[in-house]
Amino acid sequence: MPDALDPLLTLMSRAQILSIADCRRKKIAIWSGAVSAGKTYVSLYAFLIAVLDAPPGGRIIIVGRTLDTIQTNIFTLLTDPAIFGELTKHVQYTPGAKTARILGRTVYLYGANNAESETKIRGMTVALAYVDEATILPEGFWDMLMTRLRVRGARCLATTNPGSKNHWLRKKWILKADEKNVIHFSFTMDDNPSLDPDYVRDTKAQFAGIFYQRMILGQWTNAAGAVYAMWDEDRHLVKHADLPPIARTLAVGMDYGTTNTTAALLLGITDEQQPRLVLIDEWHYSSAEHHGETLPDVELSKRFREWLASKHGPEKRYVPAPEYVFLDPSAASMRAQLHDDGITPWQASNDVLKGISDVSNLLAQDRLIVSDRCEVFLSEVTEYEWDAKASEEGDDAVVKKDDHALDAARYAIRSTVSQWKPLVYGLAA
Ligand SMILES: Nc1ncnc2c1ncn2[C@@H]1O[C@H](COP(=O)(O)OP(=O)(O)O)[C@@H](O)[C@H]1O
Ligand SMILES: [Mg+2]
Repeated sequence: MPDALDPLLTLMSRAQILSIADCRRKKIAIWSGAVSAGKTYVSLYAFLIAVLDAPPGGRIIIVGRTLDTIQTNIFTLLTDPAIFGELTKHVQYTPGAKTARILGRTVYLYGANNAESETKIRGMTVALAYVDEATILPEGFWDMLMTRLRVRGARCLATTNPGSKNHWLRKKWILKADEKNVIHFSFTMDDNPSLDPDYVRDTKAQFAGIFYQRMILGQWTNAAGAVYAMWDEDRHLVKHADLPPIARTLAVGMDYGTTNTTAALLLGITDEQQPRLVLIDEWHYSSAEHHGETLPDVELSKRFREWLASKHGPEKRYVPAPEYVFLDPSAASMRAQLHDDGITPWQASNDVLKGISDVSNLLAQDRLIVSDRCEVFLSEVTEYEWDAKASEEGDDAVVKKDDHALDAARYAIRSTVSQWKPLVYGLAA
C-alpha cells in the first residue's frame, strides 16, 4: 500500500504534501479554499492514510450533505484510477449504498442536511470522520460529531469552500484552532498542480462579487451591500426594439404572490456568434397597483397565458414559444391552476445562492442583457441587498422585499443552467 502511494505523492504541490503531513498533528484538520484547489483530492489522501491508522473500537464514517453528494464529490474521485491509481483497487463502493469498504475497513456514509440528522450519529463512537462541504452541514451535526470522536487517536478531516466571516465553522473552530485542537489549511487553485491554465481562466470568469472572493480567492467574506453591484444600465439594459435575434426561448420563470406581486420573465438566448442570455419581456400583476384588488389564481393564469400567447402567437410572433415554464416551488395552488389550463409548470430550482451567483456572474461577464420591457425587474435589481443582520450571524441571506421579478428571473436562469452554460461561456460542458 505505501508503494502505491509514493509515485503519486511526487506529483503534488508543496502545500498539498505539507498538508498531508501536518494534518496528523491535530485531531481536526480543515481544508478550506477555492473551487478546484485540490482540497478533496489531498484530504482524501490524508484520509486513506488515516484509515490505515484508525484506532479500533470506533466507526469510520464519511459525512456529506446527502448520500448523492458523497457519491459525486468523494467516490467519483476515490474510484477513478486516473486520479487514485492502484489505490482504487482498495475501494469498494456501490452508488447509493450506505457503506463502503476502504482498505479493508467498513466505512459508514451519512447525509446530514437538516437539524434532525444528528440523531444518526448520536451515541456512536467515531474513530475517524471525513466531512465534505463542512460549512453547509447543520452546526448541531458538527457539534455532535465532535463529541463522538471519543476514542484515543480519533480524528476528523473536513473540506469546505469558505463562507461568511462569522460562519460558525470559522468563528468557533478555525479561529479557535489551538483551543479546539484544529489545524486549518487554506488553498487556492495555485496549489493544484494538475490544472490547465485555460481551465483556471475559465473558472475564474465564472464567479463575481462575494462568490469570486470565496470560490476563487478562497477568502471568508461577508455578503453585504448591493447583491447585484455589477448591474450597469449602460451595459445590461437594451431597448426591446434593439434586441438581437433570439435563437431559443429557454423558459418563463414565474414568482407567485397573492397580495404580493406575481411576476413572469421570459428568458431567451440570442442568435449571435457568442450567444448571450436575454430577459426578453415581463408580465406582472400587483394588487398594490390596482387599489389593493387581489386576483384569484384562475384570473392570474388567464392573464398570464394571454400575455404569453401574445409573445409567440401566429400574428405577433417574434420569439419562439418558451421551452419550459418554471414556477415558484411554493406556489402549489398556482401549479394546479396552470395545469388545469393546459400548461405544465416545472418546479423551479430555488437554491437562492446558486441562482444569485449565476445572475451575478452573467452580469459581470456581460453574458446577460435585459430589455426595457422588464420594468419590475429593472426597479428591483438596483435595490436588492444582502441582509447585514444575517451576515452578523454567519449566514448569507437577502433582504426579503421587492424581489418578485428578480426571483422569477432567477428561477428561469438557474433552472436552465445546464442548457445555457456551455453556450454563453463557450465551454465544453
Ligand atoms: N496533485 C494533483 N495531481 C493530480 N490531480 C490533482 C492534484 N490535485 C488536485 N487534482 C485534481 O484536480 C481536480 C480538482 O481537485 P479537487 O480536490 O476536486 O478540488 P476541490 O475539492 O478543492 O474543489 C480533481 O480532479 C483532482 O483530482
Ligand atoms: Mg471538493
